[in-house]
Amino acid sequence: NFSPNTFIRAELISFARDPGDGDMPEPDSLEHYGDGLLWLKGQQIHAVGHFAELSPSLPKGAEVLDYRDKLIMPGFIDTHVHYVQLDIMASYGRQLLDWLNDYTFPEECRFANHAHAEALSNAFLDEMLRAGTTTAQVFGSSHPGSVDAFFTACQKRQLRMLVGKVLMDRNAPEALMDGASGIADSERLIEDWHGTGRLGYSVTPRFAPTSTKTQMDAAGALLRNDPTLWLQTHLAENSGELDWVAELFPGSRDYLAVYEEAGLVGPRSTFAHGIHLDNGMRKRLAERGANIAFCPSSNLFLGSGLFDREAAKQTGMAFTFASDIGAGTDLSGFGTLKAAYQVGQLGGQPLTAWQGFYGLTLGNAKALSLDSHIGQLAPSLEADFVVIDTQATSLLSRRISHCTTLGERLFALMMLADDRAIYETWAGGICQHRRDEV
Ligand code: GUN
Ligand code: ZN
Repeated sequence: NFSPNTFIRAELISFARDPGDGDMPEPDSLEHYGDGLLWLKGQQIHAVGHFAELSPSLPKGAEVLDYRDKLIMPGFIDTHVHYVQLDIMASYGRQLLDWLNDYTFPEECRFANHAHAEALSNAFLDEMLRAGTTTAQVFGSSHPGSVDAFFTACQKRQLRMLVGKVLMDRNAPEALMDGASGIADSERLIEDWHGTGRLGYSVTPRFAPTSTKTQMDAAGALLRNDPTLWLQTHLAENSGELDWVAELFPGSRDYLAVYEEAGLVGPRSTFAHGIHLDNGMRKRLAERGANIAFCPSSNLFLGSGLFDREAAKQTGMAFTFASDIGAGTDLSGFGTLKAAYQVGQLGGQPLTAWQGFYGLTLGNAKALSLDSHIGQLAPSLEADFVVIDTQATSLLSRRISHCTTLGERLFALMMLADDRAIYETWAGGICQHRRDEV
């Protein structure tokens, strides 16, 4: 098996573990090479280090890509996003339940059409790569074909992606409800796709109001049968939703208990939002190793509330960073961190750039149990990374020129950068996106 070498000389940044909450990263948490070399062999990273130390071991005549004016980080990870909602981003309207009825459900009906699902899968992946996101945990629609189309598009590009078919068998338009076939279709998709190449299946009950207890129990049985499956759903996003769940499940002590009783809460479970939780629920999530996907631009857009990162930390509850497109307003990881910073400020909980970029890379990878594959620039990990141009706009360039430390530069990127700062996105050892020349 011939694995071609690729050599890239650039500034490299990667986290080896959680940098902590201080103004400076904890010792040995940050790996930073001002003049570094990233050595790829085929789809994997072979070596990472200082250019001066590694260059003597390069093969004779090796061609080195000179990106010394660029900054390379691991590819960004988005733990909660709906590919089927790309075309309804920025649809004006009140709060969650109206927004679902007015825009989301009608849009998702369009995914019965396979050509539409294929077109949107590719458009979505183009946008993700343009934004520097190389892995995401993704909702399809309730049509199994929406997931076949998405997996097919990911497989062609050799991307590491998780996706699942939405399960919903009540309280939704007729055309979106799946009934008993929902579980059978999920089983078929798991059989066809889960563990194929870089692809994984995430069992996807939309949320408690749109699934019967029978359907959620059956989803729990899928997870018990195969502990390598992921689970994604929504939890405690909006006050109207909370009232509705209390009404639909009068026998459950709280919203989380509905999912616990169905066997949906485990170390591979991601619950989007988790804004309106008490510490008891947070501790129960922590004990089971589940994570909450913090979706700040979505929470601001729908007026859902302010996620409490401090309470998460105090109770040991893991949280991840996510865009939640189409309620989210920004596909870019930079945009998600900027919104997370703003949400934090409103709650007296500022977010450091160290925490932000750690979260977007290794933190999200760990929470999804993908850290043996992605999340760091490290030997034997998959070669998924972003090449960042800190001079992408005149404003960014001006601001960065006044920064004296790496921390300042990363913070300026977090607040001012967008997809224009993504010069290239590499996944599986291949350059998959290069920005148009500006
Ligand atoms: N809760 C249930 N479905 C959805 C959805 O599609 N988007 C958001 N933001 N919340 C949800
Ligand atoms: Zn969502």
